[in-house]
Amino acid sequence: MTESTTPAVRRRARKAVIPAAGLGTRFLPATKAIPKEMLPVVDKPAIQYVVEEAVRAGVPDIVTITGRSKASLEDHFDRHWELEQALERKGDEKRLKRVRKSNDLGDVHFVRQGEPKGLGHAVLIGKNHVGDEPFAVLLGDDLIDEGDHLLEEMIEAQLKHGGSVVALMEVPAEQINLYGCAEVEQIDGETSGVVRVKGLVEKPSPEEAPSNLAIIGRYVLDPSIFEVLERTEPGRGGEIQLTDALQERANATGDGAGVVGVVFKGNRYDTGDRLDYLKAVVRLGVRHHDFGDDFRSWLQEWVTTDEGKGNEKRA
Ligand code: UTP
Repeated sequence: MTESTTPAVRRRARKAVIPAAGLGTRFLPATKAIPKEMLPVVDKPAIQYVVEEAVRAGVPDIVTITGRSKASLEDHFDRHWELEQALERKGDEKRLKRVRKSNDLGDVHFVRQGEPKGLGHAVLIGKNHVGDEPFAVLLGDDLIDEGDHLLEEMIEAQLKHGGSVVALMEVPAEQINLYGCAEVEQIDGETSGVVRVKGLVEKPSPEEAPSNLAIIGRYVLDPSIFEVLERTEPGRGGEIQLTDALQERANATGDGAGVVGVVFKGNRYDTGDRLDYLKAVVRLGVRHHDFGDDFRSWLQEWVTTDEGKGNEKRA
């Protein structure tokens, strides 16, 4: 039951929360002193792609939840006068434009989480900034291909169905234990790939999993989630899980209740995972306007060499 408010009073999400305070243990030691969201993907830190996506989707008022090493995140979206002046003196317009783009993106704010108590806790930290309106959540290490319009579709789904919206993606059964997993059903008359979420479970074993639909790093949430998060006890891994709070919303009735899922079939990269990170660098690298063609030619040749075929093993 999700039709809790009439479409006439529903508000479109305008703000975004980007949690970026996790410990990034899967990418150690690279993430010991810098947040994983600052790792470069080709020539921009991962979080810049995420902020650009939020701006494209119409949610340019952004609060980033930071933790350790917050300075690098804040500095990246702030002006760097000395650098700009040095480039100006050299007449290097091209690089000057690239530097300025990162501080002219959206309206990016920062709040500290203090202690990384889980994704649910990080989202709750955004409460004061968001207020009482629907909002988007974009995980700072999860990239959605520029050519896809997942967040826009989720914002539309939230306007149509109310409640909260999760992004779902089919994954191989043996990988479902790495994600939150959704039990879903079709919605009568809905033809756009939006499904009703009946239940959610965080990182289930393949035997326990109700489906192979994994929750990926985009959400559009009703503000009623905050009250639920405030009383959500630490769950799996001792962390306050957003999935647990959404599970409660999925089964609730009344204002802002209910969860629907948008099934995503495009390209997504989890840059907090080392292998996925490398795939993201290659896939975005071959498309780069400055050197993509050269990189692709080099790759094509390299895979035919002994080293590329793995015949010449090195550390
Ligand atoms: P992850 O579970 O991928 O982050 O959280 P992690 O804990 O840093 O990862 P590993 O497993 O140790 O490598 C998803 C998103 O939520 C943020 C992370 O920064 C990431 O963007 N997060 C997670 C927080 O902001 N705070 C937390 O307490 C936990």
